Amino acid sequence: MTEENFGPGQDDVEARSEEAVTEAQDFGEHDRFTDPQTGETFPTALPPERRPAEPTIHLDEFGNRIPPNAPGYEHAGPYDFHSQTVRDHGATRSAIQFIDVHKAFGRNKVLNGLNLDIPEDQISMILGPSGTGKSVCIKHMVGLLYPDQGDVLVHGESVPNMAEDRLFEVRKKFGVLFQDGALFGSMNLFDNVAFPLRQHTDKSEADVTEIVSRRLKEVGLGNDGDKMPNELSGGMRKRAGFARALVLDPDIVLFDEPDSGLDPVRTALLCDLIQEIHNENGGAYVVITHDILSARRVAEHIALLWKGRIVDAGPAKELFASENPFVKQFLTGDAAGPLGME
Ligand SMILES: Nc1ncnc2c1ncn2[C@@H]1O[C@H](COP(=O)(O)OP(=O)(O)O)[C@@H](O)[C@H]1O
Ligand SMILES: [Mg+2]
Repeated sequence: MTEENFGPGQDDVEARSEEAVTEAQDFGEHDRFTDPQTGETFPTALPPERRPAEPTIHLDEFGNRIPPNAPGYEHAGPYDFHSQTVRDHGATRSAIQFIDVHKAFGRNKVLNGLNLDIPEDQISMILGPSGTGKSVCIKHMVGLLYPDQGDVLVHGESVPNMAEDRLFEVRKKFGVLFQDGALFGSMNLFDNVAFPLRQHTDKSEADVTEIVSRRLKEVGLGNDGDKMPNELSGGMRKRAGFARALVLDPDIVLFDEPDSGLDPVRTALLCDLIQEIHNENGGAYVVITHDILSARRVAEHIALLWKGRIVDAGPAKELFASENPFVKQFLTGDAAGPLGME
């Protein structure tokens, strides 16, 4: 049944009843039901007037149909599990703030009034089911996407309101690790990692070599500088991407699903590496993932995104102890809970 069938018009209701009657008449002789009180027989499909009311269709504030929740949570509104509590993130300042951000692509409303606070100097994780807008968030942070409404601040500065040249400067604060490492296929590892230094700084080749060698060694690729990306395993490509994300000594490092496509052992190793390098360098790390095990391993701060807003965010310990049914379900990977198949 398509969404159009759920239109509120009276015509629709009548059209559906007629359709139901036709269906009912198609039932064979043996598919009849006898009412014990009146002796009347009906097809096993109940006649229209005896059927339960159509399920209520919940529409969000934009008129979009909200998909049904899992059994037991059918009557929950779209934001019933979104906590209104503001938890103290414990840092003295925020690295990134989203303030009432709305973002739609055509009719697809992705962010619906997102408020999010990423603390300085901690490893934060943004968790959420796939397709909820996690990558869209990252793109807002670096000014690759602009909000329809609301603001995105980096160290208190509004990204959408920045002049082009200031944005260029601010982007140097970021190291970004995209899903597959996003290496240049025609360059060896050394040149890939050296690329941002050669592009954005006037360091001498000797300095570049020193920095690149140190970063490659740090991620366990000290002897692989001559290799081409296609000679590397997925895990090595990610580590190389990580090294490249670090060469400009960024204040903020963004990881978009660094664990995707890695087996659990390599995921665990990558998490350890992220933690080690964070201990060494500090800064705000923002890791986007749907892997709860990774979150358990390294997250200090967790933000849980669903339906375009934060369900709950705060210190990882507090979230893992949360009694909120959605938070609990998501962080334990439980099938039972408000998050249904959508
Ligand atoms: N540039 C774009 N144009 C149109 N739709 C987009 C664009 N980027 C993302 N979307 C849509 O926004 C939604 C969220 O996407 P995304 O942020 O990639 O989800 P995820 O949480 O899995 O990273 C999806 O429905 C996706 O189709
Ligand atoms: Mg994504």
